[in-house]
Amino acid sequence: MALIDGFGRPITYLRLSVTDRCDFRCVYCMAEDMQFLPRKDILSLEELAIIAQQFVELGITAIRITGGEPLIRRGIDQLFSTLGQLPELEELTLTTNGSQLHHHINHLVAANIKRINLSIDSLQAERFSALTRTGNLSRVIRNIDLALDAGLRIKLNSVILKGRNSDEVLNLVDFALHRGMDISFIEEMPLGLITHHQRADVFISSETLRQRIQQEYSLTPSKQTTNGPSRYWQASGYSSLIGFISPHSQNFCGDCNRIRVTAEGKLLLCLGNEDSVDLKQIIRQYPNENERVKEAIIDGLVKKPEKHHFTTNGETDIVRFMNATGG
Ligand code: 5AD
Ligand code: SF4
Repeated sequence: MALIDGFGRPITYLRLSVTDRCDFRCVYCMAEDMQFLPRKDILSLEELAIIAQQFVELGITAIRITGGEPLIRRGIDQLFSTLGQLPELEELTLTTNGSQLHHHINHLVAANIKRINLSIDSLQAERFSALTRTGNLSRVIRNIDLALDAGLRIKLNSVILKGRNSDEVLNLVDFALHRGMDISFIEEMPLGLITHHQRADVFISSETLRQRIQQEYSLTPSKQTTNGPSRYWQASGYSSLIGFISPHSQNFCGDCNRIRVTAEGKLLLCLGNEDSVDLKQIIRQYPNENERVKEAIIDGLVKKPEKHHFTTNGETDIVRFMNATGG
């Protein structure tokens, strides 16, 4: 069984957002005073599990739990446990900001989660607090070490903004390599209207970053993929991968294998387009008629667009913020 979209791409990877809330307010992701969804509009844990199961029965083999910050959703460990037991699901992963990780590591390991993505944009305490508006760097680093000790593999994600944290690229690489972690650098995407900075002013391309890293480390392209849009390089002498997610400088849509479900139950067909299908409405109107959910998913896939239309001038038609999009 395989889900194929209208452009012949097999869709095997679901990113499932469990909340739009977060304990951070990263400057590129959120406005300072965000309005979050009312609780009744958010999928319950049971609804999340049912929806995930329909996707798996349709041929999805990998699920990433995203947010907002998934680990602040009450009862989330139960969902990890339920999904971890789906026999056809080959991989369950998580994207987190790391702030609450210490409460969940044992549950993640028990749910057979092997690797997680962790967002970290600065290794300087004050700057970290400024970029996240609320975060505490030493706590996140402590949690990284706890997770590594427990045997979880970690890939770091760093959104690099020119003049804000672009001088830390090499430090971030060193930090990752010396702890045996992978790291991906992300070009900021124009999702939602932010007022903190003009997106065009802080754009710095992946290629510029790669050249900077290349001055210290000998990089060779790697064929490895991790289901997502990162293109990886290997630093000679190290096992870690160094990746770049480059929505602007290197469009990744051609081999897109993924779809998203937002915390309010919308099947989102593409990060950079507004087309969606309301799965929550179906599941609430027709409880126990899961075939209807499956049909809606299959119908929705036909609408999956060929690619996003982000531009580096920072203008966006997409009013959705990343926290409402699901990482
Ligand atoms: N552009 C690029 N990446 C973003 N993230 C959040 N908002 C944006 C944006 N506008 C990143 C977070 C996290 C991942 C889930 O998405 O830093 O690493
Ligand atoms: Fe929270 Fe992640 Fe958005 Fe930062 S980027 S505010 S950690 S959801």
